[in-house]
Amino acid sequence: MCGIVAATATRNIGGDLIRMLRCLDYRGYDSAGISTFSGGNAIEVRKKQGPLAGLEEVLGESPIDGHAGIGHTRWATHGVPSDENAHPHLSEDCGVSIVHNGIIENYRELITEIEAAGIKRVSETDTEVLVHTISLFLAKNGDATAQQIVWYLSQKIRGAFAIVIQRANKPEEIIGMRYQCPMNFVSLSGIAAISSDISSLIEYSRDIEVLKDGQAVAITPNGHAVFDFNGTPSESVKVHADWPIDKVAKDGFDHFLRKEISQEPEALRALVKSARSSADELHAFIAAQDIKKVIFLACGSAAFAGTLGSFYARHKKLPIDVLSEIGSEFRYLPPYVDDKTLMVAVSQSGETADSIGAIEHAKSQGARVLSFVNVVGSTIDRLCDMSVRLAAGPEVAVPSSKAVINQFMATTLVVELLADNSEASFDAWEKGCLALADTIENIIAREDEIADFAAKIAGHQSSFALGRGLDFASALEMALKLKETAYLHCEPMFAGEFKHGSLSLVEYGMPIFCFLGDPAVRHKSITAIEEIKARGAHPFIFDAQDRDDPDVAALGHYFNAANLGPPYSSVAHLTVAHLLSYHAGLLRNTDVDRPRNLAKSVTVE
Ligand code: M6R
Repeated sequence: MCGIVAATATRNIGGDLIRMLRCLDYRGYDSAGISTFSGGNAIEVRKKQGPLAGLEEVLGESPIDGHAGIGHTRWATHGVPSDENAHPHLSEDCGVSIVHNGIIENYRELITEIEAAGIKRVSETDTEVLVHTISLFLAKNGDATAQQIVWYLSQKIRGAFAIVIQRANKPEEIIGMRYQCPMNFVSLSGIAAISSDISSLIEYSRDIEVLKDGQAVAITPNGHAVFDFNGTPSESVKVHADWPIDKVAKDGFDHFLRKEISQEPEALRALVKSARSSADELHAFIAAQDIKKVIFLACGSAAFAGTLGSFYARHKKLPIDVLSEIGSEFRYLPPYVDDKTLMVAVSQSGETADSIGAIEHAKSQGARVLSFVNVVGSTIDRLCDMSVRLAAGPEVAVPSSKAVINQFMATTLVVELLADNSEASFDAWEKGCLALADTIENIIAREDEIADFAAKIAGHQSSFALGRGLDFASALEMALKLKETAYLHCEPMFAGEFKHGSLSLVEYGMPIFCFLGDPAVRHKSITAIEEIKARGAHPFIFDAQDRDDPDVAALGHYFNAANLGPPYSSVAHLTVAHLLSYHAGLLRNTDVDRPRNLAKSVTVE
């Protein structure tokens, strides 16, 4: 899930590379680097561990520029985050430079060949192996064309990759090749550019070329050639990016995460509009198939939306199996899938590799796939039979917030339409969402109360989040958000399961988050709260009643949001989870926007 850029032009492109990398910062911030060719026989590289600002400082002290260059933001997979492991990687003669996203599975085999040729590696990365492999090829085939280089490399490597290659003996030409990692380009008169993300190319053109798996492109300032790995000319996918360019700014907030939480109500209202504009198509899509099984498919927080959807289907007594599946497991332990299966894929980025793999598998078995995606033009957006925009707007903070609310509500829409594929059913969902947006606004207005809760938990190292029924999805989200945002361990559990073992971990004062949004199991969950209270834990109770319930409030720290009914009340509690995690993160001095070891978009398996 690194970010890759490249540009070649009839003018200097150093500034272009940095501008494009800024759009890709979210893909990885372990290190950043660029290489450029400014004449002579050698390519020059500048790279630095840490976020892009570090590279900019290095460039300030020791600038490089030129008519052609490549750049990278890294999320470490092979080798620790360090200057040495940062991309681009250079060949020993400085004649070839490479950036790469993905994983080269057979890189150890290639190391043997490289070492046999007397080359000493200077990094621990799989990417460096690629640059030496090409350099050895070029040593014998100095005049090799882009097609020959791509063919050679594709024969040598296994894995998932987006690779960009710059070489000094053909400085105006940059080569990109793609297999299971995104790569897009624009080609105009006087400049051509490559990027992992469409967003960083829009400043050049809204007519974007998207490479398909197994395709490569050679760009020059005067044109481009797309071909497959055998060198045969091929057609890329043309996308017109007609969506607005949203500004990525904190707008007066201290953090993107806090800004994005504040946008939850407006994002939800935008989802309602987006779903409304796709309503006819959605009704028709659902009516067109004899659906015997539904599979919600996603990863991380998006997968919790699937949990909610599958449990809500039981509330609605749907007479079919509705499963919630995790992207990373799906290909390797798939449930039975056939042409009577509807897969509903949910993703903010639309680039999550595990989800993409699962979708491809489901499609190969005949399933139809409906997706709810936030990033328009992303791989999942294009891969599915029908795609509805989550419409949450750009989300920068790695902990997802406004997109998650929309993901949760998207899965409930599917359930509503499966239960009753009518306008009335759609209208009821829309009304519920709009009431939920108002409730979320009220919750945000009570931020101080939630910040007080955060102060009470910030000194702890471990906690539990309990929920039954629909509330289990809220517990899952609370636990993940506390882990990634505040580095506070939190284990999500079904409230009724707690007494079957995990209760032994409860110590005096331990924070336990208890969700009471699902009326069907409220009384059962209250019993669980009484049990943990009796063992000395400190319950934090999130209720959904018309008025505060004094008996329940007496059991612990109490926050009552509006009674919206299922599934809306359980989703309203997500905003509480988001604010609580944000404030706990601030008190624990974490980087709430860019937690350690994580990236916004997980484009590797
Ligand atoms: O882009 P996606 O929605 O497919 O991403 C899925 C997960 O990687 C994502 O939800 C992740 O768990 C977030 N960091 C949660 O805040």
